[in-house]
Amino acid sequence: MTRPGIFYGVGVGPGDPELITLKAIRVISSAAVLAIPKSEGGAESQALAIVNRAMPLDGKETLELSFPMTKDSAALDASRRQAAALIAERLCRGQDVAFITLGDPLLYSTFSYLMPFVKELSPDTEIRAVPGITSFSAAASLIPAALAETDSKVIIIPAAYDLDRVKEALSYADTVVILKVNRAIDKLIDLIADAGLSKGSFFVSRAGWPQEEVVTNLEELRGKKPDYFSMLIVRKNV
Ligand SMILES: C[S@@+](CC[C@H](N)C(=O)[O-])C[C@H]1O[C@@H](n2cnc3c(N)ncnc32)[C@H](O)[C@@H]1O
Repeated sequence: MTRPGIFYGVGVGPGDPELITLKAIRVISSAAVLAIPKSEGGAESQALAIVNRAMPLDGKETLELSFPMTKDSAALDASRRQAAALIAERLCRGQDVAFITLGDPLLYSTFSYLMPFVKELSPDTEIRAVPGITSFSAAASLIPAALAETDSKVIIIPAAYDLDRVKEALSYADTVVILKVNRAIDKLIDLIADAGLSKGSFFVSRAGWPQEEVVTNLEELRGKKPDYFSMLIVRKNV
């Protein structure tokens, strides 16, 4: 009986090809199959763009997996199940599969949702995660701004769901990293201003990409439509 391949979630960092780890490059090079998440609608995979800027892929099998940008859990589950079936097919042939993901594979990444589906279809498969440099580490480095010191509390939260939870985070933590800010930027600027935290806050878009942008005066962002790959970092005590 063929031993199943290993399923890797490989973090490729936030954008700058110099921020891919040596381990990620080794695992991607040696895996028979490169699994590439794409958002439905065919937008180019940002993770693949990073890998292409960092290393040659030389005729490796690439498996494009489509995931909808939706909050509909049935549609999300169906796409994950379908992706897992394609991955498990390769694993059952004994091929290692490297699923590439922006930043770190265990932080707001499709990889963590895929793990149980893949395990269900290929129970003997070993699953490994290769950590990546997160988007917020790259964003903080652009100032550079400390995210935490001594006994401070840090919260990472997406703004795409419940803004009351973001408000709560602002009152509780010393540093709040707000991801997925693109659709709520004006409301977030208000929340931050109302909490008296505008001074220690900054906005970063596309950290590590040629389009990289850093804005320290949040008022400049009002009325704008930021890119999906944008975040806010709010710091108290600055
Ligand atoms: C689904 S989360 C992915 C997080 C990723 N796994 C990580 O470790 O950073 C997507 C969000 O990460 C943030 N993001 C990812 N790449 C970024 C970049 N290069 N610059 C700024 N924000 C980025 C944005 O807030 C985006 O909406």
